[in-house]
Amino acid sequence: MTQTSTVRAEPSQALRPSGEILLSAKNLSVRFGGVLAVNKVSFDVKQGEVFTLIGPNGAGKTTVFNLISRIYTPSTGEIEYCGEKLTDQPPHKIASLGIARTFQNIELFEHASVLHNLLIGRHTHRQTGLLHDLFFTRKTRDAELLAREKAEQVIDFLDLQHHRDSMVAGLPYGVRKVVELARALCTEPKLLLLDEPSSGLNVEETGDMAFWIQDIKHELGITVLMVEHDMSLVSKVSDRVLAMNQGEVLAMGTPREVQTDPGVIEAYLGSVDEVSSLRRTAQSDAGPPQVASAPRAVQPLQRQTWGPRHEHHAATRERPARPETSERGEFLRPHQGHTRREPAGAQK
Ligand SMILES: Nc1ncnc2c1ncn2[C@@H]1O[C@H](COP(=O)(O)OP(=O)(O)OP(=O)(O)O)[C@@H](O)[C@H]1O
Ligand SMILES: [Mg+2]
Repeated sequence: MTQTSTVRAEPSQALRPSGEILLSAKNLSVRFGGVLAVNKVSFDVKQGEVFTLIGPNGAGKTTVFNLISRIYTPSTGEIEYCGEKLTDQPPHKIASLGIARTFQNIELFEHASVLHNLLIGRHTHRQTGLLHDLFFTRKTRDAELLAREKAEQVIDFLDLQHHRDSMVAGLPYGVRKVVELARALCTEPKLLLLDEPSSGLNVEETGDMAFWIQDIKHELGITVLMVEHDMSLVSKVSDRVLAMNQGEVLAMGTPREVQTDPGVIEAYLGSVDEVSSLRRTAQSDAGPPQVASAPRAVQPLQRQTWGPRHEHHAATRERPARPETSERGEFLRPHQGHTRREPAGAQK
């Protein structure tokens, strides 16, 4: 049981050394009628990093995600994942290859509980056949238990215990965002695609989301490819940023390099001269230029915080204190004070 006691991605041959290229997009293009949504886009995502796509509305960011998920087939170009051609794979294979995603508009089973949504996320790992399932054999029972254990670990990891048995439809928007993240984690991905994880969240919830993303990177060793408009979140969690506009790559580099790139500023705000003149007028002393969030209408959503511990978390911007054992006492929380603890009886 030692292998299954934490939510950490199982060590596997496909888990590459940190810094090695995990995903490589080469010269990707896709056209929808007259719209060239993605035009000759190339980038590499390295194992263990948070790589973020930014750009104004309609820049082609979600289309890049849909190309990686194989929802769309590129008109030109290729995607390599773990050194193999992803473009040869059918869409239903993507999750089993270790790629999970969340969506710009949350996609959950609204009339199922949080736990059931997470168990559905585990289905990529099921190896029992129809006969085993029909007769509920030992193999099926073991698979069910393992799936349940993994789901509970993710619930603990993302502090969703309070909502485990709640219907998704009745949950505040901010919690549903975390449930979607949890479902993606249940597939034990190597590469996690997050499409606007902070959209619709308030400032506190966005701060919490930043912590989850950092935990996912540092504690679970999962590589993250993210699309995001909130530049404070981008700066906080990203190792590298790629800016797109009208389907093309504008700039790539550290968050600061990209935010100060004149082409990026122009794409967001207008010409650099206009921006400088606006700045002078405003007599801003705010330091280096910052890219404003894209002019995106935030939906009027339920604004509800997660209860006392999260209020404390958001207020102090410190890691929340986590209890040492789960309710079932079977395994310890994945991290406390940045130290991963092995479960009782675990072998090193
Ligand atoms: N299935 C499709 N059919 C036709 N056009 C599409 C399709 N998917 C995307 N597009 C178009 O491709 C362009 C890029 O869209 P995409 O959704 O990738 O932008 P985005 O950068 O994710 O924008 P946002 O920040 O608003 O989410 C847009 O002009 C969009 O209308
Ligand atoms: Mg999008």
